[in-house]
Amino acid sequence: MANFLIYGANGYTGELITRFAAERGLKPILAGRNAAKVEELAKKFGMDFRAFDLSDAAKLDAALSEVDFVLHCAGPFSLTSEPMVEACLRTRRHYTDITGEISVFEALAARDKAARDAGVMIMPGVGFDVVPSDCLARHLKDRLPSATSLTLAFYGLGRISHGTQATMTMNAGKGGAIRRDGVIESVPAAWKTREIDFGEVQKTGVTIPWGDVATAFYSTGIPNIEVYTIVPEQQLKLLKLSRYLGWLLATAPVQSILQKQIPAGGPSDEEREKGKTYLWGEARDEAGNRVESRQFGMEGYTMTALTALSIAEKMLKGNFCAGFQTPAKCYGADLILEIEGVSREDV
Ligand SMILES: NC(=O)c1ccc[n+]([C@@H]2O[C@H](COP(=O)([O-])OP(=O)(O)OC[C@H]3O[C@@H](n4cnc5c(N)ncnc54)[C@H](OP(=O)(O)O)[C@@H]3O)[C@@H](O)[C@H]2O)c1
Repeated sequence: MANFLIYGANGYTGELITRFAAERGLKPILAGRNAAKVEELAKKFGMDFRAFDLSDAAKLDAALSEVDFVLHCAGPFSLTSEPMVEACLRTRRHYTDITGEISVFEALAARDKAARDAGVMIMPGVGFDVVPSDCLARHLKDRLPSATSLTLAFYGLGRISHGTQATMTMNAGKGGAIRRDGVIESVPAAWKTREIDFGEVQKTGVTIPWGDVATAFYSTGIPNIEVYTIVPEQQLKLLKLSRYLGWLLATAPVQSILQKQIPAGGPSDEEREKGKTYLWGEARDEAGNRVESRQFGMEGYTMTALTALSIAEKMLKGNFCAGFQTPAKCYGADLILEIEGVSREDV
């Protein structure tokens, strides 16, 4: 019977996904490098487990050989995705993860041919970053096939988890990114601001180097992409300051201090239940045509668990697309509407 591996199952998001998987009657094999923690979780949910470090290629290959695909939840993925994807290619198993890192999407896109040759799918970003926004991007492209520029924005991420903070801290000081004429370009942190009408709320957004700068290009072919989010005024000042102090944030001693201060865990069940996320997007073409749409959904980590498992369930039924894929490229813009509680409107 088809099954999958959750690697990094004992992390905040891995555990949430495991819990939701158990509620759906799924029995993934749990894995991670901390044997005691993974075993405890596996016992709690009556699941099998494997404990190994990502540097142990033999154990990694053996674990993948038992399943059809991996849902990789151990990040920062710039440190963990390469050994996992290479093992997937060796063992001809599909690869999914919950990254949001542009550099990871691009590195995995470069493995497209290897994935096609192996007959497997490589689909990073099956969480909040990027499933909802990728579907919105594809929807806008479907509405305006001649689009040459795409702007996306999201709002409502509440408390963020340990791993998200660790990943953001690692990338702090690297500035921003946009896509121009098909090429990813570095821009200063908080490069641009603009007013965004999310429907229920109107906010000032600021550019951030979100995963869609990489992925929306593969999903839509639109060559110019910017992504905005909403940050409190104080954080906006810090972001702008990081333009000048970025080099300092990136040094090993400062990183070590900052990483140690990040608290474990993430939003509580109550916080997740109360949370809401808002997405907005606009596509334009060179003739001056413009389309605008909005999407509404649940809190970001709940969304991550729901989208990751929705894709996992498709893959368990053999529904996949060989090669490097983005969620909307393989499953279409309406994939997100399969998640109960998500809605979309054209403005
Ligand atoms: N795309 C999205 O929307 C989305 C949503 C949620 C999370 N994320 C990303 O997912 C990642 C995990 O977030 P989280 O908050 O769940 O993290 P977390 O609570 O810190 O857990 C991280 C997990 O990864 C494992 N891990 C970390 N580095 C590893 C390595 N080098 N080798 C093997 N295992 C390693 C940890 O193992 P130990 O316990 O042994 O340290 C732990 O199981 C982050 O990169 C975050 O940005 C993305």
